[in-house]
Amino acid sequence: MQIPLKLKHRSHQTLQNQLFDQIRNLILSGKLRPGMVMPASRILSEQLGISRNTVMLAYERLIAEDYLQTQKAAGTYVNLNLPIDSVVLKTPNQSSKIPTKIYKKRHPVLFEGRAQKLTNTERSKIEIDFKVGRLDPNSFPVKIWRRLILKHLDKSGGGITEYRDPTGLMALRKAIVNHLGPARGISVSPDQIIVVSGSQQALNIIARLLINQESIVVTECPCYQGAMYVFESYGAKFCPIPVDHHGLQTEKLPNTTIVSLAYVTPSHQYPLGATLSLKRRVQLLDWAGETGAYLIEDDYDSDFRHNGSPLTALAGLDPYGCVIYMGTVSKSIGAGLRLGYLVLPEVLVTPAKTVKALLDNGNPWLDQAVLADFIANGSYARHLRQIRRTYLRRRDCLIAALKSHFGKVSLSGLDGGMHIVWHLPSYLPTAAEMQEIAQQVGVGIYTLEKGGAHDFGYQEYSKHTLVLGYSSLDEVQIQEGINRITKSISAKLKL
Ligand SMILES: Cc1ncc(COP(=O)(O)O)c(C=O)c1O
Repeated sequence: MQIPLKLKHRSHQTLQNQLFDQIRNLILSGKLRPGMVMPASRILSEQLGISRNTVMLAYERLIAEDYLQTQKAAGTYVNLNLPIDSVVLKTPNQSSKIPTKIYKKRHPVLFEGRAQKLTNTERSKIEIDFKVGRLDPNSFPVKIWRRLILKHLDKSGGGITEYRDPTGLMALRKAIVNHLGPARGISVSPDQIIVVSGSQQALNIIARLLINQESIVVTECPCYQGAMYVFESYGAKFCPIPVDHHGLQTEKLPNTTIVSLAYVTPSHQYPLGATLSLKRRVQLLDWAGETGAYLIEDDYDSDFRHNGSPLTALAGLDPYGCVIYMGTVSKSIGAGLRLGYLVLPEVLVTPAKTVKALLDNGNPWLDQAVLADFIANGSYARHLRQIRRTYLRRRDCLIAALKSHFGKVSLSGLDGGMHIVWHLPSYLPTAAEMQEIAQQVGVGIYTLEKGGAHDFGYQEYSKHTLVLGYSSLDEVQIQEGINRITKSISAKLKL
């Protein structure tokens, strides 16, 4: 019998390896069946024009790996006991040949969920993007960051070679505590802090602790998709409460003890931008105290307060130990760092620590060491002061541009954050149409849904509401963007 083998004399692979691979493949693909006798080494070496020794060495390996067997009387043959039906060679282009019976045995994928889309797939068409929550790429403190990376690497490379406390580097937790006191009126111990990979991980940790198929979660309406989708993926049912100019309408909170938690954005409601008034903060806390619900305070962009002083965080007013506070550096330093923190009521610290350890055993050491230093040495406060001034200028520029082109505009969410909300007048197209018209001239403006918000089914105002982020665009781009939209809409309206 002549076996179909073809060896390349000029190849990066040795002749012996080629021979081994090809015979093995013929066996696994069923072309050489169990029991088939192999040509004698002398005959095969003549057929292929290679040394007998090469064939013998390849055969020896195939015997050692149980593909071939040898017996004095019978010579060398394909292993009779090879489980050939279940051993199928899986090269990429052969995947379609994998018997279906193997697939049928697989378990179904149990996860059903959706995730908010943080990256803009249409971005290539967008030259001027008013996408919400984006930082000015030039604002990242490259020089200081580089210096701190080198400093910490030089000082203690051991921080990278060891597993660390999953709750985060103590230096960072202390720096966060020292920042939160004056900035947000929160007084806690570093033991109540867990460093996480952004608010998104914080939400997953909380959901793991507090949500199952029976849970009811109160959210603002509209609310942040990133939170709602996490809770939904753990099986939660929702009780959406509308927001107005003073934030969550606390008088509409359900008077029941079956709510597990309420997720709120009191500093700058996402997406509509209201600040929860002090009166409502107290009402919300009292409600949580009475019903036993936890409150998740998502303080994602509170570093940017443009009018008046920031109100003390819910976590700073909490007499019941019910507030779970989430902070992130995604809006102040960079979302690519994936760094944030949870401030937990004492009772949740240990279970949350376990979940964090199960998830990833803690965040990368170097990033934490650098951030800790950046906050502790005063660079963070300086950085915040600087970008706050820049964002304020940009916000004012956007408001002025909208007013100069569209007259009396109805805007909200101006007091803080990185985006504003434009409530469209009836003479203008709907928000979805405006988004489309703007995109045609290379400008990104977004409906609530495309801006990462969820409104629990159709809400009339969503149809006429746009969100415009201003933080990543300079004044020239902002004016140019609004100019382009205005021209394009004027042309359309005249049609
Ligand atoms: C309401 C809200 N919370 C949190 C975040 C930040 O999430 P992360 O820290 O995971 O980047 C965002 C980002 O857009 C947000 O809009």
